Amino acid sequence: MPSALSIAALPEGLIKVYIIMPNLRSFYSRSPFVLLGMMLTLAILFCGMLRSPVAKSASTLLTSKDIELAEKVGKEIIAACPVVADVKNLDAYNSCSEKVSHLDILRNTMSAPFLWGAQKEVGNYNIKDSTTTAFDPFVWRRIYLATFMFKGKPKIEQVNDLIIIHLPTQFRNQFDIGAYPYPFWHSSKKWNSYQQTTELLLFVEHEKLKGGLRSAVVDQTRLNVKRVWDGKWVWNDTRGQEPFVSLYTRLFSPSNPHISKVDTAYRAFEVKLRDSACLVCHKPDNASNQNPLLILSYPNQALSLRHETVRQIEDKLMPPPTGIFDNQERQKLIELAKAFAQAGDLALAYEGEKITSQKTGTNEFGSKKSAHFP
Ligand code: HEC
Repeated sequence: MPSALSIAALPEGLIKVYIIMPNLRSFYSRSPFVLLGMMLTLAILFCGMLRSPVAKSASTLLTSKDIELAEKVGKEIIAACPVVADVKNLDAYNSCSEKVSHLDILRNTMSAPFLWGAQKEVGNYNIKDSTTTAFDPFVWRRIYLATFMFKGKPKIEQVNDLIIIHLPTQFRNQFDIGAYPYPFWHSSKKWNSYQQTTELLLFVEHEKLKGGLRSAVVDQTRLNVKRVWDGKWVWNDTRGQEPFVSLYTRLFSPSNPHISKVDTAYRAFEVKLRDSACLVCHKPDNASNQNPLLILSYPNQALSLRHETVRQIEDKLMPPPTGIFDNQERQKLIELAKAFAQAGDLALAYEGEKITSQKTGTNEFGSKKSAHFP
C-alpha cells in the first residue's frame, strides 16, 4: 500500500523518469551521443513536470494536504489510546476517552454527522456500501472511538481522491455490559466485528474526516467474549440507569454546568418521542432499514439529531408519512425538541465543540458531490 501510494502521489513526469533509468544504464557504454540525448530527454521531462497544468497541481496539492492530515490524525489517535496489557483497565479507557474527545485535530476536521459502521467487505472503501449510524462527532470520539486501543503506526492509503487511514487496533471487550454504548451483542455479527477487527479505517476527503469503519480484515484467534442479549436496550442496576456510558454524566466533563438541563430536556422529549412512535424506528435494531441509522433512543446519541428533529416535526415529515396530525400535540413536541436542541448546544459548546443548527448531514455530503459518502 505505501508503494502504491508513493507512485500515485508522484507527478506524471517523475513516473516517466523512473521508467527511463534502467535503459539509461544499458546505453551508457555504447555511445556518448545516446547518453547526451537521454540527458536532454530527462531535462525536458523535468521542465514539463515543473510546468504541469494548474488544475492538475491544484488537485495533487489537495490530496497531499489530505495525506498530511491523515498522518497527523493517525499518529495522535494512536498516542492517545495505546494498547494496555489489562484489557479491563477502566482508567486507560477513561484516559483515552478524555484525550480523544478533546483532540483539536479531530474536533476541527470531523464531519457532523460522523458516519460509523462495519466495512462490508475487505477492500471496499465506499462507505455508502456499508450500513452506518450517524453520530455527533464529540459523542463518537468519547464513547465509541475510546472503546478501541491502538498500536504501531498508521498506514495511509490513497484510492483516487479518497485517503484511508488504517489504524492497527484491539477492542476493549471485557468490561461489564454497561460500559458499552448499547448492547452490541444484540447482533453476534456486530459484536464479533468489534472484537475481531484488526484495524480501524478512517476516511479523509477534502480536508475533512468523514467517517470510520471497523475493517472487515479480522483475526479469529482473538479472545471472543461471549455475551447473550436479554432483550433489554436499557436497564437499571445499583449504579442507576444503564448503559451508564449513554448518559450525559459520562459524556460531559464533571464541570459542565449544563448536564442536568440537557438531561431534563431529553427526558421530557423522550417520553413524547415514545408516544409519537418515533422510537419504534430510531433505535439500534433499525426496523425501517435506515442508512445511515439515526438513533433517538439514547441520551448521548440523540444529540446528533437535535436540530433536525425540530424541522422534521414542524414540516410534518416525521413520523412518516404525514407527521403528527393533532396540532396541539405537534406543537408540544416541537417545544420539547427545541428545548433539547438548545440545552444540547450549550452543553456541547462548553466542551469546546463548534455548534451549528444547520442541517449538516446528507446535505453537506451531497453538496460536496462525494462519490464515497451519502
Ligand atoms: C416508521 C418508521 C419511522 C418513524 C415512526 C419515525 N421515523 Fe424518522 N425516519 C425514518 C426513516 C426511514 C428516516 C430516513 C430518512 C427518510 O427515509 O425519510 C427518518 C429520518 C428522520 C430524521 C432525519 C431526516 C433527515 O432528512 O435528516 C429525523 C430528524 C427523524 N426521522 C425524526 C423522527 C421523529 C422526531 C419521529 C417521531 C415524531 C420519527 N422520526 C418517526 C423512519 C421513521
